[in-house]
Amino acid sequence: MALEIVVGTQWGDEGKGRVVDMLSAGAAIVARYNGGDNAGHTVTVGSTTFKLHLLPSGMIHPETMGILGTGVVINPATLLKEMDMLRSRGLEVTPQRLRLSFAAHLITPVHQALDAAQEAARGKDQLGTTGRGIGPAYTDRASRRGLRAMDLLDLDQFAEKFKVHIAAANLALVNLYHAEPLDGAALLPEYLNFARQLQPYVDDVGRQVQAALAEGKRVLAEGAQGTLLDIDLGTYPFVTSSSSLAPAALTGLGIGIMPVGRIIGVTKAFQTRVGAGPFPTEVMDENAERLRGTGSKPWDEFGTTTGRPRRVGWLDGVLLRYAVRINGVTEQTLTKMDVLSGLPVQRICVAYRTGDKIWDHLPMGPADLSTFEAVYEDLPSWDADLTGIRTWEELPSAAKQYVCRVEEVSGVPVSYISVGPERDQVIERSV
Ligand code: GDP
Ligand code: IMO
Ligand code: MG
Repeated sequence: MALEIVVGTQWGDEGKGRVVDMLSAGAAIVARYNGGDNAGHTVTVGSTTFKLHLLPSGMIHPETMGILGTGVVINPATLLKEMDMLRSRGLEVTPQRLRLSFAAHLITPVHQALDAAQEAARGKDQLGTTGRGIGPAYTDRASRRGLRAMDLLDLDQFAEKFKVHIAAANLALVNLYHAEPLDGAALLPEYLNFARQLQPYVDDVGRQVQAALAEGKRVLAEGAQGTLLDIDLGTYPFVTSSSSLAPAALTGLGIGIMPVGRIIGVTKAFQTRVGAGPFPTEVMDENAERLRGTGSKPWDEFGTTTGRPRRVGWLDGVLLRYAVRINGVTEQTLTKMDVLSGLPVQRICVAYRTGDKIWDHLPMGPADLSTFEAVYEDLPSWDADLTGIRTWEELPSAAKQYVCRVEEVSGVPVSYISVGPERDQVIERSV
């Protein structure tokens, strides 16, 4: 079988968790390839809502194995808590059901302390990180001084490395950021305890993935964050610190170049972003609350990880075309179509303008969007509630027109339209 990859085409929170859950039925493995517990993936199954930060969303299917790949940064405290959460809901979490890459880096409290100190030092130029220590953990990886999952296997050596790790971070905390140092000796017993619990899960996960594919089994690679938060090709510097793009699934799982099958781009029917950074189609008028919601519904636009209200805006077709190109998206799932019902207008950004010049692409990627103004196309709106609709034919013609325009603007077919968070609230199209 060929690897299937699910990737967010916007600034995260597109509904990847919901889509991965939908596509995981019958998959042997679902593997996260990037990011850490900065991610927040909400999956609704009947009356149960799962909020996952680290474990792959596909693990909610009892027959599917979860993998955290090489490109993931693992906070052991979050991981163990999440493993317990799944167990409390009747799901088995054993080394037969979950594997961690030997090469995945670990997040420790010093990374979180450094994240907070660095944000504070940025003053008014804060990035608005999730505070989970993501940037400092990937910095340690690049600086070749990080702790890795395989370090958990030898407790004596781990204790030594942990002390060195805390001492190095304390130097930065105290001297660069004038923050309080951490007490390494006090933290060590907790980390040794984490190590004992996680040792049986550490593995060479690339081998597992390749063996499963060779046996003809389905493997789904699950991206966290979204295209525009990618460290290299996102809206730098307002990005996360990992490679979130579909091609990163290969290095992020530790597998070689191989045939890749579907690359499913998850696109929200409108646009959201948490944290600072450019957002050309941002909506500030009375439509903002209609897109965001008030927080009364579980899917309203408030961060799963931090609870912050998400910024909202109209779908940005220029950035979507860019996401399709740099990921190699072959098909899309359009989520939250139900939320657009009842809006007085449906608006899609189809190009950008600078002075008299119209751009159908960005000359230098999305790094500096400040001089670009969105050019909109207004489409007819619809009032009907879509949440109970299950077939293309039943959709109001204005909603069909919206989906078709998204396909034209992005150049990629929409194979699923999600009209609610529940497993069955989806319209499948033959594309
Ligand atoms: P992710 O980070 O990409 O996995 O997305 P999040 O889970 O952070 O945010 C998506 C939210 O929208 C979750 O609360 C989902 O349950 C919800 N959701 C997903 N698809 C739909 C949909 O089609 N309609 C509605 N109303 N909610 C959805
Ligand atoms: P999922 O997987 C939305 C954003 C943060 C901040 C920037 C950097 O749920 O789509 P970081 O803590 O990563 O250093 O923060 O990235 N961010 C996300 N926004 N969804 C996410 O994940 C995000 N993960 C990070 O808000 O702007
Ligand atoms: Mg999310």
